[in-house]
Amino acid sequence: MSKAPTYTCTACGATHRKWAGRCDACGAWNSIIEEAPLSAGPKPLGPRGRQIPLSDLATEEEPPPRAGSGMAELDRVLGGGLVPASAILVGGDPGIGKSTLLLQAAASFARRGLKCLYISGEEASAQVRMRAQRLGLKDAPVQLGTETALRDILTTLDAERPALAIIDSIQTMWLDTVEAAPGSVSQVRATAHELVSFAKRRGVAVIIVGHVTKEGQIAGPRVVEHMVDTVLYFEGERGHQFRILRAVKNRFGPADEIGVFEMTGAGLAEVANPSALFLSSRDAPAPGSAVFAGIEGTRPVLTEIQALVAPSPLGTPRRTVVGLDSGRLSTILAVLEARVGIPFTGLDVFLNVAGGLRVTEPAADLAVAAALLSAREDVAIPRDMVLFGEISLSGALRPVAQTENRLKEAAKLGFTQAALPKGSKPGAAGGMKLRGMADLAAFTGEMFGA
Ligand code: TYD
Ligand code: MG
Repeated sequence: MSKAPTYTCTACGATHRKWAGRCDACGAWNSIIEEAPLSAGPKPLGPRGRQIPLSDLATEEEPPPRAGSGMAELDRVLGGGLVPASAILVGGDPGIGKSTLLLQAAASFARRGLKCLYISGEEASAQVRMRAQRLGLKDAPVQLGTETALRDILTTLDAERPALAIIDSIQTMWLDTVEAAPGSVSQVRATAHELVSFAKRRGVAVIIVGHVTKEGQIAGPRVVEHMVDTVLYFEGERGHQFRILRAVKNRFGPADEIGVFEMTGAGLAEVANPSALFLSSRDAPAPGSAVFAGIEGTRPVLTEIQALVAPSPLGTPRRTVVGLDSGRLSTILAVLEARVGIPFTGLDVFLNVAGGLRVTEPAADLAVAAALLSAREDVAIPRDMVLFGEISLSGALRPVAQTENRLKEAAKLGFTQAALPKGSKPGAAGGMKLRGMADLAAFTGEMFGA
């Protein structure tokens, strides 16, 4: 059989028969690269697989317990701790703090008696040691390796049998059976596959670090996402101190869970109360600011939505959004115009989630609308008020999930009143004054007298 080269999209991992400028599968440009064929010849068949009835599996002993790291934010994102023999991908921009996080995690696990091996393919051992010293982890019983040949790494893992191995990063790893440079799609896929199957076979939990680059020059960890049990992304704005570890896929816990950290001079510190952090810079009440009581994963998080509305010198006014979906902004602006009769034509609109958090919940609609109206009317929203509720195209406000949790968190942080959809089930609202509103017109009338 001839070994024709295949073409793989570095953004989504789709394979194509021929090269193209744009990937049909995900629409990315210039992301398709030629991949060398695997150099494997015909292989003798292995011993046949064994079939086990599902009922027999169920009677096997209890699954082994999860291992807690002692870093509550990390354990929460993992779904309650590290599952033995699982494969975890930690992706993120270069320099965001992945190595720092994982070195700290390795030390935490090791101090709790878990055998940990940290393998760096990017830094020399002296550099890793320096970092450990800076983080105050010099005495942690973590085994350190600096190696990029995966075959050698697997041999070491097989001999050492740690409970957890951290591979930093997958882009530096290579297998001699694959004729491609480290970091290419073929190498990333092959090495990740070897690591994941090793994890399952030998009962070693593996954390794989993957850099994401926008250019797609280095194979993004996207190709690895399908192989692993858990995918975590480490995100944050460069100008901001805090970092968010977000579970986007988790076979052993809830997806969408977040852990919040702060980058300090001595490494990453956990932020147990993110609401306080995201709201910390609020002082005098200002028009254009609304506090949204949101839910991130299983936890309520309060964030400030800020809007600025100004006359536009342009024919087509600007719509600039940071931290929210721009399509959602358009929808809300259209609803305000069509159902409440408040147009934004000729006005530039800037919308921002303070602190750099990304809000994806539709429940943020009401806070967004409130921030927009407040900016446009130049009327501040009461400083002690939180808002939440989904806006439908008819302008009606729809109740959202976890009303009680949102209100409790707001009460805890000193808020005393909430604007929310009529018909919400507030439960024990923590003594908050509730202002239920049926639709956006009622809300606008009550808040701004418009
Ligand atoms: P790093 O973990 O090397 O990022 P990644 O592995 O994702 O590429 O983090 C590097 C950044 O973190 C660097 O800009 C310096 C900063 N940093 C601190 O601010 N404090 C610290 O204690 C450490 C170790 C790093
Ligand atoms: Mg690193």
